[in-house]
Amino acid sequence: MENEKKGWSGQFAFILAAAASAVGLGNLWRFPYLAAKYGGGIFLFVYVILAFTLGIALLAVEVSIGRRTGHSPIKAFAAAIPKWSILGYLAMLVAFIILPYYCVIGGWLLKYLCHYTVLLFNPSQNALPDGAFFMSFISSNIQPLVFTVVFICITAFFIALGIRKGIEKLNIVLMPLLILLAAGIAVFVCTQPSTRQGVIQYIKPDFSKFSPATVVAAMGQVFYSLSLAMGIMITYGSYMRKNSSIERCAIRIQLFDTAVAFTAGLMIVPAFYVFSKSGIESGDIGLMFTTLPAVFAKMHLPGFLGGASLATSLGFAFFALALFAGLTSAISLFEAVLSNTIEVTGMPRKLATAVLAVITVLLAAPSALCYGSTPFALKIPFVDMPFLDFCDFLANNILMPILAFFTVILAGWILKPSFFYREIRKRDQPFHIPRVFAFIIKWVAPPFILTIFTVGVLNALKVISFAK
Ligand code: PHE
Repeated sequence: MENEKKGWSGQFAFILAAAASAVGLGNLWRFPYLAAKYGGGIFLFVYVILAFTLGIALLAVEVSIGRRTGHSPIKAFAAAIPKWSILGYLAMLVAFIILPYYCVIGGWLLKYLCHYTVLLFNPSQNALPDGAFFMSFISSNIQPLVFTVVFICITAFFIALGIRKGIEKLNIVLMPLLILLAAGIAVFVCTQPSTRQGVIQYIKPDFSKFSPATVVAAMGQVFYSLSLAMGIMITYGSYMRKNSSIERCAIRIQLFDTAVAFTAGLMIVPAFYVFSKSGIESGDIGLMFTTLPAVFAKMHLPGFLGGASLATSLGFAFFALALFAGLTSAISLFEAVLSNTIEVTGMPRKLATAVLAVITVLLAAPSALCYGSTPFALKIPFVDMPFLDFCDFLANNILMPILAFFTVILAGWILKPSFFYREIRKRDQPFHIPRVFAFIIKWVAPPFILTIFTVGVLNALKVISFAK
């Protein structure tokens, strides 16, 4: 069952890679939106508690399964306990459903970055992207697909280079840039006199807004944000060295992910509070592509930059940041699918990458074109959703909670916490809170995950009304 294969060059590279996977569109768009909707500071408070208890425990479970077995999910579950090998296939399925449509959104980011780059040289108030720009882009029958294909090619290029030469090298460049951009935009937004009130609203807890819904929303976000239940952390764990500390890594990854989410909130939420009188209403991804450019367009820096130049610079910085975050997350998803494929078929890495890239393009086409006027625009029967939205719903609301639920049952009750103690303590590495870990995995995580699942499904079926 034990194995140590060639992987990350060290503990830092692993932390950076896992953090690069974790920091994605969920941090930039979903977290700020949920924080604004669920009472600002009170949401932050609940999120931090859940992230540093349940989040870290679940992260440690996935990483340990990967490192202990040395395999990607399909073989990892089979090696850990043969009867449960179906979970590995489920993880592969989740990653395979998410990857194509995540690349479609990556393509949208690429389009916006290209657009802002052109504007940098020729700023014009009229050419700033607005709602009409977004709608006409996503409903075009060619453009979204073209940008998606380019995004998939970039992803596949770095994947083909391998773990050390591709993923590690890219992360070491993109992650510091990402932090600089996020911090820069946040400082700029928060120091505008008009946003002060918004910053207070974002950080100060509003206890009257606390409800069970806050907890469920925060928990769902902890999962999504850490890239759990997609097989990614199992795969990345399988490349981890035996002398790296799982406990220390899990804490640092979580710290990093939470810090970026908090900073993203600082750059988005106060501006929304101020510029859109009603706060954040729209929960879908369009928020990032339509509302945010409009917010940037309304900012002023008297005596320095005019409206259009400032809006363009901010838009450029934001979409560069979002593209980096999306690219490193897409790479982690691709790697999860790829390593499963290589392990099961024995194909060489470069060939497998090319084959998967072609399949991803084919699977992404229906999502890329689902808002246009081709036959792909037909809504999925019964749920009445466009193809992209349906994939998102199926993966996030149905399959991921099912996988997460059975993973914690397997971890807590079948493999038992001692399986994890042994792996986490390998080579005398520290593990300070084994009892708390065992308690969370056995008693807290299963009911929590079941609740998220039930609420998510009822919400989607419109039986109850709840945030996404
Ligand atoms: N953790 C990512 C985020 O916060 C989510 C994600 C990762 C989605 C990898 C897909 C693939 O956005």
